[in-house]
Amino acid sequence: MQPEGPVSQRSRGSNQPDLRRIACNPNYWYPLAWARQLKRNKTLSVAFAGDPIALIRTDSNRVFALEDRCAHRQFPLSKGIVCCEHIQCGSWRYDASGAIRSVRYLVKGADAPCRAVRAYSCREAYGLIFVFVGDPALAEQTAFPDVCPGSTRRNTSRCCSTEKLGVTTLSCTRT
Ligand code: FES
Repeated sequence: MQPEGPVSQRSRGSNQPDLRRIACNPNYWYPLAWARQLKRNKTLSVAFAGDPIALIRTDSNRVFALEDRCAHRQFPLSKGIVCCEHIQCGSWRYDASGAIRSVRYLVKGADAPCRAVRAYSCREAYGLIFVFVGDPALAEQTAFPDVCPGSTRRNTSRCCSTEKLGVTTLSCTRT
């Protein structure tokens, strides 16, 4: 029997990280990539506690995050192609909510499969891409990390505290 709870809290194999064992609270905003790593109209494969996540930057510079596993045959969505504001994996096209927008081989007017992939709340700030990996209902009410106290996200281009970010060799430069 599968344990209850979000996918990110489940153990899917003995060699997979498990949030319950690493004592990491999933209901928080975590930086998973540098913003500069994700170019416009490109994807980036990242992971949190063993869960694969596809970061996608659209034509309009919007960033969103989806489970990195197509609902069709489990191919990584990060290997797909960004089409305007969607990600295309083979014949299936997803929007930022993880819903299937179209399936290329279906006849015109036919309903797309009512499957979807998990979407994560995602924000770009401090030159980083943050993902909320826990319960989506808690994302908006969870305080966003104040990486550079005394500054605003708008006036900070590169930042800052390595302890807070959990990443190394970041320099603090305010603009
Ligand atoms: S695996 Fe993605 S469309 Fe088939």
